[in-house]
Order: sequence, then C-alpha cells, then structure tokens
Amino acid sequence: MRLFRKKNINDILNEVSLEQNEETKLKKVLTVKDLTSFGIAAIIGAGIFSTIGKSCYDGGPAVIFLFIFTAIACAFSALSYAEFSSRIPVSGSAYTYAYASFGELVAWIIGWDLLMEYAIGNIAVAISWSDYFTGFLSGFGIMFPTFFSMDYLTAYRGFQSGDVSSFAYNAWINAPQIFGIKIIADLPALAITFVITCLVYVGIKESRTASNLMVLLKLFVIVLIIIVGFFYVQPSNWNPFIPNGISGIMMGVSAVFFAYIGFDAISTTAEECQNPQRDLPKAMFYSLFICTILYVLIALVLTGIINFKELNVGDPLAFVFQKLNLNWFSGIVGISAIVAMSSVLLVFQLGQPRIWMSMSRDGLLPKKFSAIHPKYKTPHFSTIITGLFVAIPALFLNLTEVTDLTSIGTLFAFVLVNGGVLLLKKDENPQNRKFKIPYINGKIFFPVILFGIFLSVYFYNNDIIKNFFDITSFEILRAKIPMLIFLLVILFVIVVTFIKNLSLIPILGLTSCLYLMTELGIKNWERFFIWLAIGLVIYFTYGFKNSKLNNK
Ligand code: ALA
Repeated sequence: MRLFRKKNINDILNEVSLEQNEETKLKKVLTVKDLTSFGIAAIIGAGIFSTIGKSCYDGGPAVIFLFIFTAIACAFSALSYAEFSSRIPVSGSAYTYAYASFGELVAWIIGWDLLMEYAIGNIAVAISWSDYFTGFLSGFGIMFPTFFSMDYLTAYRGFQSGDVSSFAYNAWINAPQIFGIKIIADLPALAITFVITCLVYVGIKESRTASNLMVLLKLFVIVLIIIVGFFYVQPSNWNPFIPNGISGIMMGVSAVFFAYIGFDAISTTAEECQNPQRDLPKAMFYSLFICTILYVLIALVLTGIINFKELNVGDPLAFVFQKLNLNWFSGIVGISAIVAMSSVLLVFQLGQPRIWMSMSRDGLLPKKFSAIHPKYKTPHFSTIITGLFVAIPALFLNLTEVTDLTSIGTLFAFVLVNGGVLLLKKDENPQNRKFKIPYINGKIFFPVILFGIFLSVYFYNNDIIKNFFDITSFEILRAKIPMLIFLLVILFVIVVTFIKNLSLIPILGLTSCLYLMTELGIKNWERFFIWLAIGLVIYFTYGFKNSKLNNK
C-alpha cells in the first residue's frame, strides 16, 4: 500500500505556500494572453514545419481527418488537464495530478514519463532546428560541414545506402577520425539548446517576452503561408482525397500528434500565473483551437499546391514554395521555422525543470533539484541539468526515433491524466473547483459510441476486423499486443463505468489517446517499457526511501 500513498490536494496547496518565502517564491507574472502565447509557442514547431511532410505523403489530403481526430483526443485531455490545474494550481503538472489521484508510484512513473515529452521532445526539436538552420545558412552560400550537422546513425545509414550524392553519405566519408572512430555530431543542435537554457536560467519574465515575440512572428508567417498558398492551390491535387485508405492516414499518427504536443506544458507554469485557476483552462483551449484551425488549413494548402506524393521531405513548407519558384518566400518560411522551433524549445526547457522541482519537493529527487536561484528566482540547478540532458543526446540521436518516443510518452501521460480525473474525489477542496468538466453519464453514451464505431468499421473497412483475427505467426501476434491491451482496457472501462457511473468526457480522452498509442507499433511500446523499467529502478533505489510521505 505504501507504493500508492497519496497526497491530499489541500496538503499539496498548503505545502507550496509554506515552502514559498520571499527567497524561494516564483514570480507571479503570467496572464491569460501570455499563457495562450506559451501554448502556441509550445505547439507550433517541428511538427508542422517538418514531420507533417511524411504524413501528407502517407495519407494524402485526407491527413486533415487525422489532424481533426487528434485535436479532438487532445481537447478531451485538455479538459482533464484544465480540471486538474484548476484544482491543484502548482508547478508539477501531470506528475502532481497523478500524486493526488493514483498515488506515489504512478506519480513517479508519470514524472519519469514526462521527461520523454519535454526533454526527449526537445531533442527532436533541436535536431529539426539544426536542419532548418544549416539549410538557411546554405541559402547564403555558407556551407556548414555536414558531419557536424547530423547524427551518427543518419550518416552511417547514408553511407550504407551507397547514394554518393546524399549529404549523409558525404558526412560519413569526410568526417574526421580519432583512433579510427568517426567524429559525427550535430553541433547546431547543441548550440541552440545552450542558448535557450541560458535564457530560461535568467528568468521567467525574459522567457515570456522572448516567447511572445517569437509567437507573433510565427503566427504571422503561418497565416501568410496559408493566404499565399491558397492562390496556388489546384483542386485537382485533392483528387483522390483518400489515396491510401485509413491505414495510410493512420501512418501519420506519431508525427501529427507530435505537432499538437505542448498545450499541456503551460500547466507547469501554474505557480507563475496571476490567476491560474481561471486562466490555465482558458489558455489551453485557446491555443489548441487556434492551432487546429491553422494545421487543417496548412495541410489542405500543402496537398493542394503539389501532389501529396512529392511531400516526403524534411522541410515541406519551404519546399512547396521552392517548387513554385518563390525562393524569397521559401526563405521567409525557413527563418520562421527556425524561430518557431526556438520557441518550442523555450517552453519545454522551461517546463522540465519545474516538474523536477516538484518531484524534489516531494523527496523523490535530491533537494538540489528544487533549489531556486537567489537573484533570478528560477529553479537553476534543474535548468542546467535539463540543458545537459537535451544538448548531449541531441548531438547523436536520430530524429524519427526521438519523435516516436516523445509521442508515445506524451500519449501515456494523457491517458493517466484522463484516468486521474475519473478518480478525483468530488468533495475534495470544492473551493478550488473553478473549472469543472461537464458531467455526462458514460454508462449509456460510451457503449453507444463504441457500437457506432464498430458498425462503421464493419461496414466501411471490414478488412481491419478480418486482419485482426488472422494470427499465423508469433511475430504477427506480437504486433497485435498493443491492440489487445487496448481492447482489454476498453472492456475494463465499460464494466467500471456501469458500476460507478463514470464521466463520459475523461473516458473518451483516455480511450482515444490509448487508441493513438496502439497506432505507434510494438517496437515503440517495447522501447517505452524499457524506459519505464529504468525509471522504476531509480524510484526503488532513491525515491521510495526518501519520499516525504515515507517520513510522515
Ligand atoms: N508540438 C511541438 C512541435 O511540433 C512539439 O515542435
């Protein structure tokens, strides 16, 4: 039972106010506008500027359905985040929410898991940033050495492919060697992480100003891309609209979901908001809504300007305008991509140390992690550790792998936050319930919705059901493990909903995010579980003994 010891919501709030004297207090400066801006800063980045290309290529124009479906899954989760952040307005985000609803072990798991969203996500963004940055420099004739602007694996794979004209092949061939080992590393990714970490170290106000400016610029350019692009759309490119069926659309899950990650990150700034209970829920919705509209329009414009088959590139937004011979405009897109990704980096570099700070306050991490800088009033030690945690792997890791890990980690966090809302006690600290998810009894609607989905799959894509029962080898069975787990969870949720009259919206959030997780494939599930296992080893060797709840 000690593994599931819980924190009482009122205790959490009291502790934070007791711990915060003038020395250690964070500055309360953020308004709803700043928070919405932080949300957009975190959302629009590598996803829309980079990884969306492959999703359009796989799914064709119909990828917009995936954008809409993912936005709905995120909106359900945003409601759950909003309810939590209104009840527990402290820095730890999903970690603190899990501590109050599921208890310590799950809280640790989610805190550890959020490292994937924030730090590993930032590794992905830093790598994409580097691609756009070196591309931008080359536009001015400045050629950054290829072996110092990519990871080892990409260079090695490029060499193996034998494509002598590729950057990767040349990076491998030209790389310097020490004791026979090729020195290949992504230096611009390291450099941008360093700059952003310095900014976050210096202060929340400085970060806010920088973030607001970057958001204005990127929104302006995104809207410009949509307007300019609109004039070059040829509706014939939207025909066929669904070239590769549902399976083609679903191949983009990881990339499309990655593009939405970030609206939840603003909940980590709860202690720096003027009125977190009112403003955090609002800001999450505003930012999610604005980004969804922009994403759907961008996807339509991209697939309308050129044929979707040409979009399998790393910089699709710049690429389509090059194709139209609008090189100057493509340059503007390049600059704004660099700015957009810098702002994503900023928000996540800001969020990660604040989660560590909360974990350290609870005794699950050493005290140093919650130390506040006497002058800048930021969690400075955690900020430096986050910088190192992102900068060093960014030198060596491969983009696709880190994007997939980030998406699966974040979806898992969303599943738990939705589950956590279902477990919240209704009568606990009612004075703090300024935002509440509207209650609809899931008992009737959930089974009806499931039945509706089953019927539409049965009539429109019966192959999915047939293929599910086709288990001819161990490998095929292994690939189906995520789906089997999903179906078991659905059964469990139906039963519990019948007994406990659970609320429909968090149930839909939980199941839609779990469904998106199943689309990420068994390989990512295995990697994810290895990551969780490492986290558990750390918990049992440090956190379990040192937890404040242990000493109570
Ligand atoms: N949503 C963020 C991005 O696309 C993580 O860069």
